[in-house]
Amino acid sequence: MNLGNPHSISKSDSINNTSAPNRFLSQRAQVTLVIVLLIAFTLWNMPQPILLSDQETRQLLTLGPLPEPPLDPTNRWSGNAQAANFGHDLFFSTSLSLNNSVSCATCHKPELYFTDGRDIAMGLALGDRHTQGVLNAAHHKWFHWDGSEDSLWSQALHPFESANEMGLTRAQVIEKIASNPDFLSQYQGIFGPLPQVNSSTPQESDAIDRAFSNVGKAIAAYERTLITEPSPFDQWLEQLRQGNAQPTNSFNASAIRGAKLFVGRANCIECHNGPLFSDDQFHMIGVPLANNDLPTDRGRINGVVELHVDPFNTAGKYSDDPNGTRAKITLATQSEPDQWGQFRTPSLRNVANTAPYMHQGQLNTLEQVIAFYSTLDGAISLDHHSESVLKPLQLSPQESRDLLVFLQSLSGKIANSN
Ligand code: HEC
Ligand code: HEC
Repeated sequence: MNLGNPHSISKSDSINNTSAPNRFLSQRAQVTLVIVLLIAFTLWNMPQPILLSDQETRQLLTLGPLPEPPLDPTNRWSGNAQAANFGHDLFFSTSLSLNNSVSCATCHKPELYFTDGRDIAMGLALGDRHTQGVLNAAHHKWFHWDGSEDSLWSQALHPFESANEMGLTRAQVIEKIASNPDFLSQYQGIFGPLPQVNSSTPQESDAIDRAFSNVGKAIAAYERTLITEPSPFDQWLEQLRQGNAQPTNSFNASAIRGAKLFVGRANCIECHNGPLFSDDQFHMIGVPLANNDLPTDRGRINGVVELHVDPFNTAGKYSDDPNGTRAKITLATQSEPDQWGQFRTPSLRNVANTAPYMHQGQLNTLEQVIAFYSTLDGAISLDHHSESVLKPLQLSPQESRDLLVFLQSLSGKIANSN
């Protein structure tokens, strides 16, 4: 024993005095650790309650449901069923093109959610932009990627006269309607007599222009019926409106995380807002072109010029409300240098069904779109362009997947499709 050696005893005591509580603490710490781990493990495996802040809830509730499309006061046949039936027949008729081979539905195919699946549109010849969809289009305030049209009916006149699309003159369109007994009787039943067109008729006259504008108004009446039913997101919103934010079978936890990102950190809602997921405004987001070509499409800056020279704009004499609010907005719209290369924010409803994406169809998948917003790799920036809204979001793989699942939840069935 070490009793004879005080130094040794005191040393050994001191060791015992400190080591006993140490051992005790370390056992306790071990037990605590095990308990903490057990709790953490249990929590990890429990379904996490979804927490939405008041702000997130408020913002999400602005994204749906999509109401009925408004009536268009510039088109007095906007809600007319007979006009819509005639418009349907015109929309699907290839007879209204130069070689009887192209109809509106050549590029707006019902089975492809009224798009064509191509990057750049192909009618009589290759066009220069990607085909936009027609579903829910009656909600928009501007039409075409550059907003060069301010109503659905004036937009519908454009493809007939475009050499790449249907390649006719106004007079030829009227002649073709006159020579088709079914079209002629439908036209006259709605709009009254069709003007006579013969070789001595000037190519463009007031009577022909008016009849031509009526053709556009019938097509627009049909297009107003092209809508989609509530999406899984809309159904979940209905539940959220009742105060329940929990996932549903068709809108899972990943979709909810994606929705939170959409209105939160990723701030997609800055431009893709309202029940249409579009602010109906024009932005330059700089998506690189195929083969990294330099941009040549002037976008909105040209759209404004075309809008003002269009005899069929909503302030013109063929409009049924030339002094109304819509016409005033058109008249007040000016060209500005910042509009170079700006395009209208597309609606994101049904976006999973309408690949490829962007005004040149240059991105093939939604994964590529999300990767673009995440990295802004190759983004085009114009020297004189001061507005730089986008910052790379640096999304994690999980966040990218969540955003994708959210975008996929925005599709609804086509209503009354025929
Ligand atoms: C050759 C293919 C092609 C044909 C044929 C065609 N379109 Fe389009 N459509 C397009 C393209 C491309 C755009 C985008 C045009 C642009 O931005 O310059 C477009 C845009 C539209 C839009 C605008 C949607 C929006 O959100 O702004 C509507 C509506 C539309 N087309 C309806 C029609 C109708 C009606 C017809 C027949 C009279 C028709 N299209 C014929 C290719 C076509
Ligand atoms: C500054 C406004 C703005 C913001 C913010 C924005 N977008 Fe866009 N988005 C646009 C514009 C403009 C286009 C069309 C660009 C083009 O064609 O060159 C577009 C195109 C798209 C498209 C392609 C749709 C189609 O039919 O071609 C998708 C998908 C999309 N955005 C999703 C998102 C998501 C997801 C976010 C958030 C991560 C987001 N956007 C943020 C303005 C914006």
